[in-house]
Amino acid sequence: MPGGVTTDVKTYSMLINGEWIASNSGKTFPVYDPSTEEVIAQVPEANSDDVNRAVAAAKAAFEEGPWATTTAQERGRVLFRLAEKVRQNLAMLAELECRNSGKPIVEAEFDINDVATCFEYYGGLATKVVGYVNPVPDNAMSLSLKEPMGIAGQIIPWNYPLMMAAWKLAPALAAGCTCVLKPAEQTPLTALELARWFDEVGLPKGVVNVVTGFGESCGSPLVRHPDVNKIAFTGSAAVGKIIVKEAADTVKRVTLELGGKSPNIFFADADFEAAIDGALFGVFINQGEVCSAGSRILVQKSIYSKFVEAMAEKAKKIKIGPPMERDTKMGALVSKEQYDRVVSYLEIGKKEAKVAAGGGRADNCAKGYYVQPTIFYNVDNNARIAREEIFGPVAAVIPFDDEKDALKIANDTPYGLAAAVWTRDIFKAMRAVKALRAGIVWVNHMQPTYVEAPWGGYKQSGFGRELGPWGIEEYLETKQVYINLNEAPIGWY
Ligand code: NAI
Ligand code: MG
Repeated sequence: MPGGVTTDVKTYSMLINGEWIASNSGKTFPVYDPSTEEVIAQVPEANSDDVNRAVAAAKAAFEEGPWATTTAQERGRVLFRLAEKVRQNLAMLAELECRNSGKPIVEAEFDINDVATCFEYYGGLATKVVGYVNPVPDNAMSLSLKEPMGIAGQIIPWNYPLMMAAWKLAPALAAGCTCVLKPAEQTPLTALELARWFDEVGLPKGVVNVVTGFGESCGSPLVRHPDVNKIAFTGSAAVGKIIVKEAADTVKRVTLELGGKSPNIFFADADFEAAIDGALFGVFINQGEVCSAGSRILVQKSIYSKFVEAMAEKAKKIKIGPPMERDTKMGALVSKEQYDRVVSYLEIGKKEAKVAAGGGRADNCAKGYYVQPTIFYNVDNNARIAREEIFGPVAAVIPFDDEKDALKIANDTPYGLAAAVWTRDIFKAMRAVKALRAGIVWVNHMQPTYVEAPWGGYKQSGFGRELGPWGIEEYLETKQVYINLNEAPIGWY
């Protein structure tokens, strides 16, 4: 972590059992503005003691607190009120998200709007959770009931900080679970601001606890805690694998969203201008710090050179700059660590392929973790820059011969979060939709995401689905109830 001092550094508290408190150890850690490298806040550094308190609060709130007996209508209304708070404070939240994550303000505003939409969606869905009457053959009635899974530990990343918090909290609360949320250490501020409204919107104490801390000392104790019933995680594949192992000891339910190396496929018959735009948007939005980034751009050989040239020309004009400026199209990467990681991949890429645009630090700003939108071409699908998630503005453009070749390369990856295909041929598009091994497939677009539709990956991109009715299912258990309608003894013995 870099040094750096600034005035106006606010020290935050975290929320456990409805109280705003410091960490048990008294320790705090700095939070940065990655576009200036300055410290903008201090937050409590939670360790396992704090996690234990947060889990105890969530457990009490689930088992004894008023939350356990609230109706679905009441839970829905709480979520609507929370959404309203987010909408009323959209400008403040977007600015804070922008400062803390380095993303452009216009994108941050989109994100915060989506946060409110997510709470609204699950506010409505809370009352649509229904059970079944199972058609069993005997003189009996068999029911299946949906019940909250219990205490949810939610560990989220830094690329869409408050949106990831909403994707986790909204379905859990609609289902009737209680939560311990651990934001990413780089970007905890908007989640802490959100938590200020919990009491006012009618969330009883302990229903949502927010612990701020690092992965191993705060995330891992949450994963290993015997009273936590479910872990929802979004982040790196490396940590996802650790979580699955650590959760096994207590047989927790786990859902994982682990990113990928998503193919964005361009056939020669695609609308050329739309294609160039779609290739750039797919990989460079949010500085490329997107789990579904279209970071492998597969282009048919007959248009390959023209495509790379046009892409590079447009990429060089992308406005990089201070995230708070409204015409900025690419802000700063989230941290020094992420910047170093991306820059190291630029060096790897220069040995593996050719550079069409970018390739280094964007130095139009004196400070801050800015990287040029970078396009590598003539990339082999076996190159490291084609196999490993970089999570920055780095595109690997790979040539292909025909449809069969394209689909083979597209699926030749350990990941399977997303894919996109561009063509004007409906038959070709539909064959691709069917063949692509990915949880989300776009046709003639890439990245639109809706809270009504499922989100999640195949293969090593994780398991479980977020959003839509699928999202709430992941926070529900199914209870079978058998009611004997026959008053006579069983008569077996
Ligand atoms: P990370 O996976 O280490 O961090 C994500 C979250 O997991 C954070 O809240 C972190 O504190 C927590 N965590 C870390 N280690 C943990 C552990 N042992 N037990 C429990 N929780 C733990 O991601 P990081 O290091 O910030 O980024 C590294 C790479 O991960 C990125 O370059 C990118 O490739 C990928 N990534 C993918 C994301 C996605 O949306 N799928 C989001 C963020 C990162
Ligand atoms: Mg990490």
